[in-house]
Amino acid sequence: METKAGDPGAFAHFDLARVDSPAFVVDAARLRANLAVLADVRDRAGIKLLAALKAFSMWRTAPLVSEYLDGVCTSGLWEARLADEHYAGGEIATYCAAYKAEDLPEICRLSNHVIFNSPGQIARFRALLDAQGGGFDIGLRINPLHAEGEVPRYDPCAPHSRLGFPVNQLEGAHLDGVSGLHLHTLCEQDFAPLERTWASLRPQIERYLPQLKWLNFGGGHHITRADYQRDQLVEFLKAVKADTGCEIYLEPGEAVALDAGILVGTVLDTLRNGMPLAITDISATCHMPDVTEAPYRPAMLGELPLEDELIDEAQGGVVRLGGPSCLAGDVIGDYRLPVTAEPGARFAFLDQAHYSMVKTTTFNGVPLPSIWLWDSETDALECVRRFAYADFRDRLS
Ligand SMILES: Cc1ncc(COP(=O)(O)O)c(C=O)c1O
Repeated sequence: METKAGDPGAFAHFDLARVDSPAFVVDAARLRANLAVLADVRDRAGIKLLAALKAFSMWRTAPLVSEYLDGVCTSGLWEARLADEHYAGGEIATYCAAYKAEDLPEICRLSNHVIFNSPGQIARFRALLDAQGGGFDIGLRINPLHAEGEVPRYDPCAPHSRLGFPVNQLEGAHLDGVSGLHLHTLCEQDFAPLERTWASLRPQIERYLPQLKWLNFGGGHHITRADYQRDQLVEFLKAVKADTGCEIYLEPGEAVALDAGILVGTVLDTLRNGMPLAITDISATCHMPDVTEAPYRPAMLGELPLEDELIDEAQGGVVRLGGPSCLAGDVIGDYRLPVTAEPGARFAFLDQAHYSMVKTTTFNGVPLPSIWLWDSETDALECVRRFAYADFRDRLS
């Protein structure tokens, strides 16, 4: 998978020695810029825009997110609690592929929208939902059966996908008590795939539109990328709103924190095995699991082109970077570092604010990166959180 982000922005001038290693550093100024772009789309289109906590839930920045957007979308009880504690005042839309009965009363109390993955779950929980006394809308996630994904792992419309109720099975009775439909089918995509998805879906749900209050087009919209077609998106959203009479929601995650954070690491040791190798204190599997899951190669701050024919190893040739864990596949990729790849050398991977911080593990007892907030406009730098041995120990028993 090719990542379309990797703009260093103000990090091009950030001194990596100012923070711990490993450390996530988030630039509040870049976050504000992304949020301003999203709020502008929201205002021009007359829609509601929620931030997906699954992608980026550094709650220290919640006041900033809440200042610009209408609320957050959450993936279940714990994210809904986090939203209630830290992103208070905005809307909370919760979608989970399947709920547990014991979680639902609190989820209903915390959420404005409770979105189900199947009419079967709505029917099974009907009495429980009725007993909550209202205050929330019930939604249904549908699968438009229109695949636009580039990678099956990230394509909720891939064959046999469990995510969303197949639209060709939808019947009027399934929408009893349902106020809105939700779809999430994109991943790091432009406007055209959304337009095609709606063109394919609209005729299939046309007869239900008059009874719906809202439509939620999920996430996966790369709205804050410099070349995203924002004007077309705005016109499209206005047209869908006018056509359907529904309130329209978008819930991007990645676009909120796009290029807003780096992961700083250090070379711990070097060796050769057919090529130069370096062990670092960043682990792909513990700190950037998408690198091996997607897989993709994260861009490095200031990296030199790999294909330079004049590469002289003594001057800094290609090095394969890997983590300190026991996993043979804990390999990040091949790089030409901007500094000599020797023990103590600092480097940073770009675009690590989203889907890395939320996915870290302590496999092998590998320490968690500390979390820093920097403001490139004022140069203020703050260590928000450091993790210790107890954080590893207390997840075990
Ligand atoms: C239901 C739902 N909403 C929103 C998002 C956020 O998507 P993204 O971070 O790609 O914008 C996701 C991501 O998986 C999702 O599953």
